Amino acid sequence: MKNYARVFQGTAFTSLSPNEVAILEDHLFCINDDGMIEEVVAPGASDYEAIVQAYQDTEIFRRLAKGQYLLPGLVDLHVHAPQWAQSGTALDIPLYDWLNTYTFPLESRFADITFATAVYEEVVGTLLANGTTTALYFATIHREASLRLAEICAAKGQRGLVGKVVMDEPEQNPDYYRDADTASALADTERFILEVKRLAKSTKQGVYPVVTPRFIPSCTDEALRGLGELAAKHDTHIQSHCSESDWAHGYVRDRYGKHDAFALHDFGLLGDKSVMAHCNFLDDNDADLFAKTGTAISHCPLSNAYFANSVIPIARWHAKGIEIGLGSDLSGGFSPSLFDNARQAVISSRMLEDGVNHAVPAAERGVPNSRITIDEAFYLATAGGGESLSLPIGRLAEEFAWDALIVDVSVPGAKLPLFHEDESLYDIFQKIMYLIRPEHIREVWVQGENVHARR
Ligand code: GUN
Ligand code: FE
Repeated sequence: MKNYARVFQGTAFTSLSPNEVAILEDHLFCINDDGMIEEVVAPGASDYEAIVQAYQDTEIFRRLAKGQYLLPGLVDLHVHAPQWAQSGTALDIPLYDWLNTYTFPLESRFADITFATAVYEEVVGTLLANGTTTALYFATIHREASLRLAEICAAKGQRGLVGKVVMDEPEQNPDYYRDADTASALADTERFILEVKRLAKSTKQGVYPVVTPRFIPSCTDEALRGLGELAAKHDTHIQSHCSESDWAHGYVRDRYGKHDAFALHDFGLLGDKSVMAHCNFLDDNDADLFAKTGTAISHCPLSNAYFANSVIPIARWHAKGIEIGLGSDLSGGFSPSLFDNARQAVISSRMLEDGVNHAVPAAERGVPNSRITIDEAFYLATAGGGESLSLPIGRLAEEFAWDALIVDVSVPGAKLPLFHEDESLYDIFQKIMYLIRPEHIREVWVQGENVHARR
């Protein structure tokens, strides 16, 4: 038997594919010194009893209590950390107005490192408490404050992928909130990449720099090209907004005579480590390009309902082989919870399939075969996010990081509705997915370390 750093014994739910949830009843999860899952052992396997005997009286053994279950940590593929400060407000105007009236003024305040630190401390803590163990963040244009966000992720133990946002286009961005010029936007980005890579060496879970053109309208061609080159030179992840709203989509068509996907590709911004948020206006050619380049989609169902009046066809893009994960898009999406977004993904998909529109005859309603299940939404929030980032996260399986949630369905005052002893584990899984709140998330683990506990 190997030496393990920790051994957990309990029942876990983990996604195998969009349509398959594995229920691992009373399994052992053996974690090594690097925080990776070295072995998953089923009851009845030859070494199961031996491992229990060897570890059960030690401090590193953990038997989950009755009512407790393991889930993989959640992967948020699109979150604007500074916008936590305005979450829950200002969602009744279109994207363009929202950016200029609320969002750019707020983000400009992150020049103040004290203000930035206060907001970033809270948003990272809030996301962890909601079960998000990995987050792909947009920060702001400010290099120093963006680095502070990465430092806070490092200190709190969250796997943060952080982008200093680039906005250098003089016509499209306000004077008070844009990069001074293209050269400084690129120089700041490169310095930021090197600083985060240095910081990452001091962490167990990893923090990562992300090349981040906000969206095509906010950047000059020179910046977009330079960012593609920087991402290739330093082998970083890339993120942006792609074909999000009528306005943004139309702007790119007017500027280049093509869709965002092809424009981004021209600048070297698509690839296996690229994650594009929203993608509401993707057509089949765009989708084929995503599949061919390995570019992933961050599906943001709450935000898409507000800013794009849109539902993307998950099943159709999965059939093309595109990797898809889930994004909260704070604060375009009002909730920091990926569980809320998973629920919305299911609800929105049902509206797409057959939503009632009294102006349209029943026979002309909706898009057939669009609905997704809660199992598929679980996949998006976990395994799909891990695949999109090309990181070994999002599954409770061997050779994946021990990023895990211990949820408790019998928290006093917040019990989930479980009234009979023989409730199936699959029913319990569904109730967790639909009803869980932060108070049920008792512990959060990242890379083998306990980073959040609620007693
Ligand atoms: N497009 C450009 N910037 C943003 C942003 O901050 N949020 C959303 N939802 N879309 C954007
Ligand atoms: Fe966004």
